[in-house]
Parts: sequence; structure tokens; C-alpha cells
Amino acid sequence: MMPYMEIGYLVGSVSFVVGLKMMGQPDSARKGNLVAAFGMAVAVVAALFFNSKGFHVINNLEYIMVAIVAGTVIGTLMAKRVQMTAMPEMVSLFNGMGGLSAALISIIEWRHLLHEAANPETMEHASALSLGLYIPVIAGLIIGTISFVGSIVAWGKLNGKIGDFRFPSQQIINAVVLIAILGVAYLNYESFNADHSSFYFYITIALAVVYGLLFVFPIGGADMPVVISLLNSFTGVAAACGGFLYQNKVMLMGGVLVGSAGTILTVVMCKAMNRSLMNVLIGMAGGNGGGSTTSASGGSVREVQATDVAIMMKYASKVIIVPGYGLAVAQAQHVCHELENLLEAEGVDVKYAIHPVAGRMPGHMNVLLAESNVEYDKLIEMEHINPEFATTDVVLVVGANDVVNPAAKTDPTSPIYGMPILDVDQSKQIIVLKRSMKAGYAGIENELFFHPKCGMLFGDAKASLQKLVNEVKAL
Ligand code: TAP
Repeated sequence: MMPYMEIGYLVGSVSFVVGLKMMGQPDSARKGNLVAAFGMAVAVVAALFFNSKGFHVINNLEYIMVAIVAGTVIGTLMAKRVQMTAMPEMVSLFNGMGGLSAALISIIEWRHLLHEAANPETMEHASALSLGLYIPVIAGLIIGTISFVGSIVAWGKLNGKIGDFRFPSQQIINAVVLIAILGVAYLNYESFNADHSSFYFYITIALAVVYGLLFVFPIGGADMPVVISLLNSFTGVAAACGGFLYQNKVMLMGGVLVGSAGTILTVVMCKAMNRSLMNVLIGMAGGNGGGSTTSASGGSVREVQATDVAIMMKYASKVIIVPGYGLAVAQAQHVCHELENLLEAEGVDVKYAIHPVAGRMPGHMNVLLAESNVEYDKLIEMEHINPEFATTDVVLVVGANDVVNPAAKTDPTSPIYGMPILDVDQSKQIIVLKRSMKAGYAGIENELFFHPKCGMLFGDAKASLQKLVNEVKAL
């Protein structure tokens, strides 16, 4: 008899690894996603229709199919309708569902354990609940619940339904709640028996809900992508607990991959913002942002018109576009690509400079520009594009602010000091497209806007780019 289930799980596991690897490059990311989805489909079929002995249809198949169809329809509709700027929200919601699933698995398995303990034939075995069995159940419950509640709060914060909520001694209270969770979980283990009322088990759930709320409530809305990535890694660990519990290798593998990828992403994001994870978690982001048209050092802003910028770019030999969060807000990616095509047709060499934390989620700019069919080889990562600014005629900064702020290099008192930035001030001319003199995410003034080489083209990025397209066409 062929071990179909094992083969299915192996195909699933290998597809996850290959898919994840492919997601590391923009040109293969889409296919990587499909490869991983294929692996998941194979693993689901293997789990539903095979066991270690051969073909075997799982119990309650009809309910499972209803859930799969409902999930597929809802997921597809949501993914098709979501705006790019609302992507972190959706990721957060989906991640929360993963955490909830892991917690529900633990609740069901706990009931199984109690049921076994109540059954006289298995009493002897079950009354001595092994730690090896208990730890995955309780860890899946705690981590899954925290991830679910935290992700829902993150979702609410991102869509503006929930505001920041800070209180004194928040760190100490969080630590106390965490210790209480572990203590009650231990009491639950110690008092396990057939007549057990699950009192401590439900207290553990309640405390995990409280911790999930306390953990995410104080974090600034704009720091949410880092927190979501962290919660994503929690969900991975909770799913891996399920894999341990059921001795299901593909579930374990998937959980470990999500857990480690989420952790790595969290670390990479913090590093690219030059902030520690602790700094993000206690909500230290930014100030309120400035709005003055004179810099602290007395410089003033030079406003430019679209006609002048169009002439400058049309007769340049090299232009670099620096996209930022404002490009996403304005949904200006398509018109930006149109401008790029027009300039290329005039013989101008056009590239995009991609900062690792431009926008509000990992790969935000890559996804946005890929959506408007910008060629992948035109998207140049920061460390490769920085040496090119010195030989660039015009840099067009579209809705970016912090990622081009020289204070990251020059001002040790700045909150972004030490964050690697795009060296746009090395180029011959800098044009910045934004609506006002307001600050970006970090809430700090940007000296670049007062630089003698810099001209400000004020307005919504999409409208300004459209003006530039019209002007270049008219020249
Ligand atoms: P920001 O520093 O946030 O600046 C965006 C600028 O876009 C703002 O100054 C804003 O100025 C402008 N803007 C907004 N809407 C616009 C519109 N419709 N048209 C034109 N301009 C518009 O963006 P950035 O340079 O991309 O930097 C990203 C920041 O987010 C970094 O500080 C980073 O650390 C942080 N962050 C990133 C991530 C990830 S993973 N990407 C996660 C968390 C935090 P006006 O209001 O004047 O228009």
C-alpha cells in the first residue's frame, strides 16, 4: 500500500519551503504564493481522504466541506475587493482567524482529554496527563488566543475604529498578567482529573484575552505592521503546537515556517527603522509632525510648478523615482508608471529606489508598483541604488518623507537617527511631491525640503503626477 498521506504531507511541506523561497523575489513572488497554496491544497486532501493505513474519509466531511466552501468564498471576495492601503488590515484579520483556529483546536483537545479521563477504560492512562501532551494544548490555547485578540485589536486600530489606549505602569501590569497566565495554566495541569470542572482552563483563556488586549492597545497605529508581523509569528507557533498534538508533520512544518518567517520579518522591520522591538511595543513612535515652511536652521522652501519639473525631467538623462507612503494613499502607481513610460520613450533612463520600510507594510512599494506593471528590474533596493544618486539628474520623491530624511545621518537627537536612508541629496535636482509641509510617520521635520537643490510640487501625488504627464506630452 502506497503511503498516500505521508506523500501528500511531504509534497505539502516541500511546496511551502519552495513557495516561501520564491516569495523572496518580486518576479517569482506571485508564483511562489501559488506553489505554497498548491502545497496546502495537497495537504488538505491528504488529511481529509487518507490515513496511515490508506484511503479513509475523515469524520464529519460534510461540515468540513461547508466550512471550506464558505472560507473560500469569503476569502476570495475580501482579497479581490481590498484596497492596497487596507492590506495590513486584511492580513491582521486573517492572522487573527489563524490564532482563533489554533485556540479552538486546544479547546477541543482539552475536552477530549477530559472525556478520556472520565472513561473508566482510559482512566488510568488519562489521570496521569503527561506534560508532553499538556504543553502543546495549553501553549496553543494561550498563544492562539493572544494572537486572535491582538490581531483583532490591530485590525480595529488600522481601520480607525479603535484608538490608542495607554495607562500608567502598563509594562508591569502586562508582566503580571503574563505570569498569572502561566501560574493558572500550571494549576490547571496539577488539578487535572475526570471530575475536573475546567475552571482554571477557562481562567487561562480569560487571562489570555486580557493579555492580548493589553499587549496591543497601547501601540501606535502606525507601528501596527511590526506588531502584526509579531502576532503572525505567534499564530505560526500556535499552529505548530497543533502539529505536535496531532503528530501532523505538514501542520508542524507550516507552523514553524510561519513562526520563523514572522520573527525574521519583525526583526528586519525593526532594524530597517533603527528601532528596538521593545521601543515599538511600548509605543514610542513619532511626534505630532511639523507644518512650518521655514526650517529650524532658518532655510525656506522653494515651490515649483509642474511645467518646470516636466522640462527638467524630459531633458534629463537619468531620473530616479522614490515612492513612499503618499504614493499608496494617493493610489498614484498607475499614473506614475505612465510618466515613467513617457520619459523612457524620450530616452531618459528611469529607475525606482525602494527603501525597505517605505510605506506601511513590508514590500508595500513593490506590490503597489507591480500592480501597475512596472518591470521588476526597475525596482532597485536601497543598497544598490544609493551609489547611483550621484550620477542622477532628477530625483522625484513621490509621497516619501522619513525614508529620505537626512536627519537619520546628521542629527543624533532625531528619533530616526541611524535608520538607513536613500541618499537623494547626492543627485543634481530633487523634486518632492506631497500635499503640505506636514511630517511623515516619524512626526519630524525634514531638512531635505529646505535644501537649495530641492523643489516642492505641492498637491495630491496622483494629481501632480497627472499634471507632469500632461506637461511632458505637451512639450
Ligand atoms: P512617511 O514618512 O510616512 O511620509 C509619507 C508622506 O506622504 C507624508 O509626509 C505625507 O505628506 C505624504 N502624503 C500622504 N498622502 C499623500 C498624497 N495623497 N499625496 C501626496 N503625498 C501624500 O512615508 P515613507 O517615507 O514611505 O516612510 C515610511 C515610514 O513608515 C517610515 O518612518 C517607516 O519606519 C514607517 N513604517 C514602515 C513600515 C513598513 S514595513 N513599511 C512599518 C511601520 C512603520 P503630506 O501630508 O504633506 O501630503
